[in-house]
Amino acid sequence: MNAQQSIAMLPAQEAFSQLRTNGPVSARPYYDADRWELERQAIFMRTWLHIGHVCELPEPGSFIRREVEFARASLIIARGKDGVVRTFHNACTHRGTQLTEESCGKTSKFSCPYHMWTFGMDGKLLSAPDFERFHVSKEDVGLKQVATDVVAGMIFINFDPAPRESLREFLGPVAEGLEILPVAILEDPFAAGTTQCIELQGQVPFAGADARVTEFH
Ligand code: FES
Repeated sequence: MNAQQSIAMLPAQEAFSQLRTNGPVSARPYYDADRWELERQAIFMRTWLHIGHVCELPEPGSFIRREVEFARASLIIARGKDGVVRTFHNACTHRGTQLTEESCGKTSKFSCPYHMWTFGMDGKLLSAPDFERFHVSKEDVGLKQVATDVVAGMIFINFDPAPRESLREFLGPVAEGLEILPVAILEDPFAAGTTQCIELQGQVPFAGADARVTEFH
């Protein structure tokens, strides 16, 4: 195992520390593709990232789509019938076709346009034509989920299948700081009896990642 591989295996915070350089700021992170790949694997694919706000998902069935370039992923963030916010890869588990091209909307299910496999808002496969011929169980072919949690109404995701720290552990005292900001007032728009929402521009979903990059450099 080479040094770069061993850094990529470390917990994200330790990898971050090892990638930090002392002395003059290096220009390498700006042009070195290998360095970027290391940062991508060691940090961005394994840390909590801001992806949206719960006011974008005001009702059960509401969803938003996010294209996450560094992860080469298209995601659906959806509020289930149970009110829980979940994130799925926007890829049918049959042959990978994108389930939606809409940037946001409201639905009761996602039906793949290719062979009509249909998934519920909790990601479970509801129906598929001739499914008995596949010899797998529906439980095994639900949509692939991405770890998701919410603090102060802000939705975060983590591409690590088993995040080594919870979102609150990751944020530490910052979580309480966020909870007293105006953005947190919008945490439960229905309870507040308002449809007020904030405009989320393209950069915002990656504000956490950008902040990390800024600190890193
Ligand atoms: S690719 Fe989605 S149903 Fe076949």
